[in-house]
Amino acid sequence: MNILNHLAIIMDGNGRWAKNRSLVRTNGHKKGADVVNDIAIYCAKNNIKNLTLYAFSTENWKRPKSEVDFLLNLLLKFIKLKEELFLQNNIRFHTIGDLSPFSNKLKDAIANLKNKTQNNNGLNLILAINYGSQNEITRAVNLALENGYKITEQSIAKHLDSASFGDVDLLIRTGGEQRLSNFLLWQSSYAELAFTPTLWPDFNSKELEEIIAKFKSIHRKFGAI
Ligand code: IPE
Ligand code: IPE
Ligand code: MG
Repeated sequence: MNILNHLAIIMDGNGRWAKNRSLVRTNGHKKGADVVNDIAIYCAKNNIKNLTLYAFSTENWKRPKSEVDFLLNLLLKFIKLKEELFLQNNIRFHTIGDLSPFSNKLKDAIANLKNKTQNNNGLNLILAINYGSQNEITRAVNLALENGYKITEQSIAKHLDSASFGDVDLLIRTGGEQRLSNFLLWQSSYAELAFTPTLWPDFNSKELEEIIAKFKSIHRKFGAI
C-alpha cells in the first residue's frame, strides 16, 4: 500500500460548470471555493499530511481584469471566512507562489491566517497562488546562489517554496484536461497522475476516496523494478 504524504490538486472546470448552467463564470469560482471544505476535512481526517491546491497560476493574470479581480477578492474572502475550518480541524495554512504582486490587504490576511494556524499539526493546506512552477524553480535557483550554494538537485529542492512538503505522491486534475499547466513540475517528477472529467464544483470527497484507493494499489517503481 502506497503512503499518501503529499496530494496535489489542479482545481479546474469552474468556468465550464457555470457555463453549463447558463451562469456567469464567477458563479463557478464561488461554488468551487465551497468544495475545498469537504476535501480539506477528508484529508485532515484521513491523515494526509500535505494538500496543495492550485488556486491561481502565474498565467491566470491573462484573464479579463474583471475575472482576476473577482478571483483575488474570493481569495481574500476565503482566507477570512475559512479560519474556523482551519482551527476546528487542526489544519495549518501555507502558500506557495510569489505573493509580491498582491495588495497589502490580501498579504496581511494571508500572514494572519498563517500566524493563527502555526501551531496546528494536522494537515498542511498549501494554497498555490500566483504560482507557476517555472517561476518557483527560477526563484529557487537565484536564492540558492544568493545563499552561497552550488547548484545541485538538493540545493534547488531546498530553496523551492514547497521545500518542506516533499515530493507529490498523487496529482489530480479535475475538469478533463490532461496537462499540468505549470504546476509542481519539479515536485511531481514521480507523482501518480489522475485526470477526472468531473468539473471542480462537482468534485467531492467520495470521488477523491475512489482515486486514492486506486493510487494505493499502484506499484510505484521509481525507476527500479
Ligand atoms: C479553475 O477553473 C479555476 C482557476 C483557474 C482560477 P477555470 O476558471 O479554469 O474553469 P474552466 O477551465 O474555464 O472551466
Ligand atoms: C490551471 O487551470 C490553474 C488553476 C487551476 C489555478 P487553467 O484553467 O488556468 O489552465 P489552462 O489554461 O487550461 O492550462
Ligand atoms: Mg481552466
